[in-house]
Amino acid sequence: MTTAFAHHAQLQQLAANISELNMLQLFKQEPARATKHLLQVGPLQFDYSKHLINDQIMQALLGLAEDAGMQPAIKAMFAGETLNNTEQRAALHVALRADEQQTLVVDGQDLMAEVRAAKAKMRAFVDRVHSGEHAGYTGKRLTQIVNIGIGGSFLGPKVVSDALAPYQIKGMEIHFIANIDGANAHQVLAQLDPETTLFVISSKSFGTLETLSNANTCRKWFLATGAKEEHIKHHFVAVTTAEAKATAFGIDAENLFPMWDWVGGRYSLWSAIGLPQALVLGMPIFERLLTGARQMDQHFVNAPLAQNMPVIAGLLSVWYHNYLDSQAHAVLVYDESLKDLPNHLQQLDMESNGKSAKKDGSPVSAQTGPVIWGGVGTNGQHAYHQLLHQGTRLIPVDFILPWTSHYETAEHHPWLVANCLAQAQALLAGRSLAEVEQELAAKGMPAQQIAELAPHKVIAGNRPSSLISFDLLTPEALGALVAFYEHRTYVQSVIWQINAFDQWGVELGKVMGDRVFEALATGDIQGLDGSTAIAVNHYRLARKL
Ligand code: F6P
Repeated sequence: MTTAFAHHAQLQQLAANISELNMLQLFKQEPARATKHLLQVGPLQFDYSKHLINDQIMQALLGLAEDAGMQPAIKAMFAGETLNNTEQRAALHVALRADEQQTLVVDGQDLMAEVRAAKAKMRAFVDRVHSGEHAGYTGKRLTQIVNIGIGGSFLGPKVVSDALAPYQIKGMEIHFIANIDGANAHQVLAQLDPETTLFVISSKSFGTLETLSNANTCRKWFLATGAKEEHIKHHFVAVTTAEAKATAFGIDAENLFPMWDWVGGRYSLWSAIGLPQALVLGMPIFERLLTGARQMDQHFVNAPLAQNMPVIAGLLSVWYHNYLDSQAHAVLVYDESLKDLPNHLQQLDMESNGKSAKKDGSPVSAQTGPVIWGGVGTNGQHAYHQLLHQGTRLIPVDFILPWTSHYETAEHHPWLVANCLAQAQALLAGRSLAEVEQELAAKGMPAQQIAELAPHKVIAGNRPSSLISFDLLTPEALGALVAFYEHRTYVQSVIWQINAFDQWGVELGKVMGDRVFEALATGDIQGLDGSTAIAVNHYRLARKL
């Protein structure tokens, strides 16, 4: 963002007067407020009526979007322009879920032809595994799929697997090994039968420490169970841009699935990175996921800014973080199957927008990337919701809620829905001092005690939240939901004028990790800071090195 944006000063002025804006009053004054701030895209509904906004604020925010060139920036993404300027790449995850018949020529190459070919390869492989044509080395069907990957090669796929578990093909199982902590591989491998296990090594770079370590551990385990080197090709496949490295690992060229540098890791679940999900869910369900995302894409690129779901959501985030001094954003999922969505959104938003330099290299002039956190409702109500209701910080909340459940059990779902709606209502309405005093008096509490207790029971209210809902967590709803957050992330980056598609900040830790690893092994602490040197010594003492 730049202070030179025409609407910046106006937004500052509006923010200065925000204490005068009372949402409950606005609901009373304007009966249509709830429907006016309601958008529907495919299966997804977005209610943003419980936000600290009025017409003037929305107009100013939309003006800011115009100032930042939002519409051309959206078109530029879909046209395959080099959005990722520090790596000279397009950011074309939308191509992965575009209509397959489309053409998309970038630098003289039709990328859709590559997407079609990759999907055809995925489809054929999934069919071969399901039919048993591609079987384990002893002839048994491969029914246990292990996703070895981390970051974008893990978090999005994990959300898809959990969320769409009701659509899983009977007899198929999925497991994930991501962490370098040996406990992860140990616990997963203990559940596997090598004869029926297929490992999918998912790594865009095929150079990620965690993934390669885990892949090697899995290979050793596989060979230790009695299998031979020549059996590796039946049980290990890879998804990567680095074909040579994967082949050197021992992956058969037949079993390599492509990725492209124009797809960022955190935007890649729609590509062959989704192969483990396609294997477990079947390709038709995977295609339905893409269809849901495509609906959101078409909306994002075509809808006017004022009715554009990801644009509105991104602008609301800018409003809170740049003008109302909020630092965090909570994603509260009222659906157990989406419990890992906040983790995926953490990578998506924080790796994309946790930046201090603008695209042109100059320092940013506003706070970027809010802290994204969250968890599953109702569990959070018995944990961190206290801070949401009575803490001193302003934390806008996304409530995510399906109206019906795949797991209808007695009255569980109506209670889940009631709790979600009630939490949003409590944030909005709060409870005034007068209300608390009245309530305590009605219980017969003496005046002195009321005076002492009442301030602790006051809830300020007027705290913002969105309700993102859908009828049922279908593949289409999930696709639209994840694509919504991807585009919301991009919208914020356009306002902040940052590159949402690189992640240079993660590199330093990797380099230092190599040096510390060497120090742990050798005891050479030269050049390390005092604190790290002591930690290295502790490690070596504990391990009697
Ligand atoms: O270290 C960060 C990161 O590069 C992410 O951006 C990426 O999703 C993850 O590591 C895994 O990378 P790869 O798929 O290349 O193994």
